[in-house]
Amino acid sequence: MPRRRKRDIIIKGFSKLLKEDKLRIVAELMDKQVETMELMKSFWHTDNKVQKIFDEFSENTISNFYIPYGVAPNVIVNGQNYLVPLVIEESSVVAAASSSAKFWSERGGFKAEIIDTVKLGQVHFLWKGDKKKLLSVFDELKEFLRQAAKHITANMEARGGGILDFELVDMTDRLEDYYQLLVSFNTVDSMGANFINSCLEEFAAALKDFLGGHELFESREKEPKIIMSILSNYTPDCLVKTWVECDFEALDNVDESMTGEEFARKFQLAVRIAEEDVYRATTHNKGIFNGIDAVVIATGNDFRAVEAAGHTYAARTGRYKSLSTVDLKDGKFNYSLTLPLALGTVGGLTSLHPLAKQSLEMLGNPSAEELMMIAAAVGLANNFAAVRSLVTKGIQMGHMKMHLMNILNHFEATDEEKTRAVEYFIGQKVSFNHVRQFLNKIRNLEE
Ligand code: MEV
Repeated sequence: MPRRRKRDIIIKGFSKLLKEDKLRIVAELMDKQVETMELMKSFWHTDNKVQKIFDEFSENTISNFYIPYGVAPNVIVNGQNYLVPLVIEESSVVAAASSSAKFWSERGGFKAEIIDTVKLGQVHFLWKGDKKKLLSVFDELKEFLRQAAKHITANMEARGGGILDFELVDMTDRLEDYYQLLVSFNTVDSMGANFINSCLEEFAAALKDFLGGHELFESREKEPKIIMSILSNYTPDCLVKTWVECDFEALDNVDESMTGEEFARKFQLAVRIAEEDVYRATTHNKGIFNGIDAVVIATGNDFRAVEAAGHTYAARTGRYKSLSTVDLKDGKFNYSLTLPLALGTVGGLTSLHPLAKQSLEMLGNPSAEELMMIAAAVGLANNFAAVRSLVTKGIQMGHMKMHLMNILNHFEATDEEKTRAVEYFIGQKVSFNHVRQFLNKIRNLEE
């Protein structure tokens, strides 16, 4: 049967099959069935117990997808020297983080501070009622909600966290009868998604009970219509700031064609452009997340949540702009990054994924706040490395060697061919075609 036709078949009950059977079905839909089975299986972990852990993280798992696990040494944050694990598939990111970390380690390292660690959740509901009446009993409602979620919050409270506050948000001017119960939480060292969502679902039910049973409300006010209860990944008050600072002179040797001050001014201009232009801002911030995501993934945290919050924060003024900023004053280069980072160091994948656990150990088992500062510093490190390259020798030069290696690996170059290619491509533009031609040439010559 042609592949297209085979794929048109609706597969029933797939999720209930055994992993081997799932893989067999997938392989049957591919052109090269035996090779598919072999390839997929070759990425299974040799220890069945470990493989089972991976299988159970997700659903319909048939194999594992490897991403390189690298390390950036010399990341000094608030005087502490960290060996930072970075999981990322893009070449140059680890090299950039490492080179930037080393650079700043010789100039006082990164400083960082936690601005706050508040997490948020919302119960979205429609309500045809008198808001003033609801506000008049809001303290009573808060207590009712706290009690209703006591069985969930007790453990978190014992760890120093829990519910911080409740707010009634009136959005009726945007959507008819639409209100939110906006709840703030302290989830201590956990990212807290499950905790928050469980609390919110409890609050939704309790809100109905409260309004339904309270004598103050007349019949139409007794029945709020709950639309949904879910945490918000936008956490503008779970905020970390990191910065580096040095005299202009300390930047003197960054580029032979510029003084330290000239470099500082050009660098600042590049960052200013990312504050003014949304196209540049997106790429600029992407460079920041190259580093942050790599730490977030290595430590078993949720990089989609972190990215979502970061980009929303970058647009908080109504215009999307750079998350980092440069200040030049009194002969000093001050370069900082402030962003929301909702991270955890307990719970979730952080202890289940053997390598996430190892990453946290490598970082000295930090608290969530400490991890926020480390990840932010790596984000700033990557941003610095990118903008430094952009305003000096350009980005391609630094990328070349790794880019070249990727292409050479694609052509299954031998070690000797690689050495010759690295020599040949010094100062040359590396492109897929150019590398192919080069290899053809030396391979033919050697035949
Ligand atoms: C590439 O992954 C990231 C950069 O484009 C970031 C930047 O341009 O600032 C180099």
